[in-house]
Amino acid sequence: EKQGFKHFMLKEIYEQPSVVRTCLESYVNSEWTAASSTNPINLGLPDDLYTDLEQIHIVACGTSWHASLVGKHLLEQLAQVPSQVHYASEFRYALPPLTPNTLLIGVTQSGETADTLSAIHSEKDRRASLSAAYQPRLLGITNRLQSTLTRLVDSVIDTHAGIEIGVAATKTFIAQLMAFYCLSLDLAYRRQTVSPTRLEELLKQLWQLPTQLEALLETQEKRIEELAHEFVETQDFIFLGRGINFPIALEGALKLKEISYIHAEGYPAGEMKHGPIALLDEKVPVVAIAMPGSVYEKVLSNAQEAKARDARLIGVMPPSDPHAAEVFNDLLPVPEVDELLSPLLTVIPLQFLAYHIAARRGLDVDQPRNLAKSVTVE
Ligand code: F6R
Repeated sequence: EKQGFKHFMLKEIYEQPSVVRTCLESYVNSEWTAASSTNPINLGLPDDLYTDLEQIHIVACGTSWHASLVGKHLLEQLAQVPSQVHYASEFRYALPPLTPNTLLIGVTQSGETADTLSAIHSEKDRRASLSAAYQPRLLGITNRLQSTLTRLVDSVIDTHAGIEIGVAATKTFIAQLMAFYCLSLDLAYRRQTVSPTRLEELLKQLWQLPTQLEALLETQEKRIEELAHEFVETQDFIFLGRGINFPIALEGALKLKEISYIHAEGYPAGEMKHGPIALLDEKVPVVAIAMPGSVYEKVLSNAQEAKARDARLIGVMPPSDPHAAEVFNDLLPVPEVDELLSPLLTVIPLQFLAYHIAARRGLDVDQPRNLAKSVTVE
C-alpha cells in the first residue's frame, strides 16, 4: 500500500503534484485567456452563495486552520471580501457580530472534526429564525464527501485529495489551498476585482505548478534529508514568514512538533524583535521563508537580526539572489513564482524537513503519540 515508500506521510508528500493537477483539471478552464468572456473557474456552487456577498467567516482546526489563513489572505487580496479565520473551538463561545449576506466556510480534511462541526451548528442555529439576508450560507471544503460536514452544509468544494492515512496532514493541506485559490479567483472574476491580464498570469502560473512541484520533490529530498540529520538532537526551532507565507511558517512548526516532538514556533518575522528574539542563540535554528515580493526585503532584514544572535539560519527561497543567499547558512531552494502562489511551493521543504528529522529519530511518523487522524471530541 505504501508503494515502496517508508511511510504513508512520504507517499502523500509525493502525491501533491497530482492532487494540484486534479484540482486544476476539475475546476479551471485551461484554455482561458484575458480575451475570454466566461469565468475561468467552475466550482459548481449555486449562484445564491455569491449574491451580494459581504463577509466571510472561516472555521477550522490545526493544519486546516493554517490553510484557512492563506485562504483569508487570498479572499481579501484577490476578491476584496472581508474575511476572518476562527479557531473552530473558540467560535461558538464568542460568535462574531451578525452580518447579512455572510458566508461561513468550514474546512476539514476528515469532515468529522467535532469542533468544526459544532461551530457550523452554532452559526446555523442562531440564524435559523432570521430574515432572508441573514440566512446562513454554509460551504464546506473537504476531501471526504461522505462525511458529517457534507451533510451539515449547503455546498461543498471537493479538494480531490482522496483519503490521507498519515496523521500529519500534507496532501490534504495543499488541496485545501487549491480550493481557496479557485474560490478566490472565482470571486475575483465575478466581482471584477482582478484585471483579466493579471488573472491570466496567475492561471498560467498555476498550471505550471504540478511540474514545478514534481521537480522540487525529485531534486530536493536528498539534500533536505542530509540537512535534517544535523537537527536530530535539536530542542527548539523557530519558523519565520510574513504575509501569505506566515501561515506556512506556522504549518512548518506544527509538522515538526507533531511528528518529531521537537518544540517549534511559527512567528511573523517582523514580530521577532518584540520578544521572541530573546530566545535565540546558537542552539536554536531559524527557518525563514523569504520569497520575492512585497515582504522580501523585510524578511531578509528580520533574518539578519536572528543571525546576529548566532542562530543558524535556513532560508526557504529561490537561489536566484546570490547576495540574499549569503545571509543564510543553508538554503532550501524553491522556484520563484508570483508571491500569491508561493505557499504551494514553500510548504514542501518544510514537510520534508519535519519528515526526515522524525524518521531519523526513529519515531512513528504516521501515527504520532497522542494524535488521531480525526478528532471527534470537542
Ligand atoms: C495536522 C493535523 C491536525 C488537523 C486538525 C484538523 O497535521 O493532523 O492539526 O489538521 O486536527 O483536522 P481536520 O482537517 O480533519 O478537521
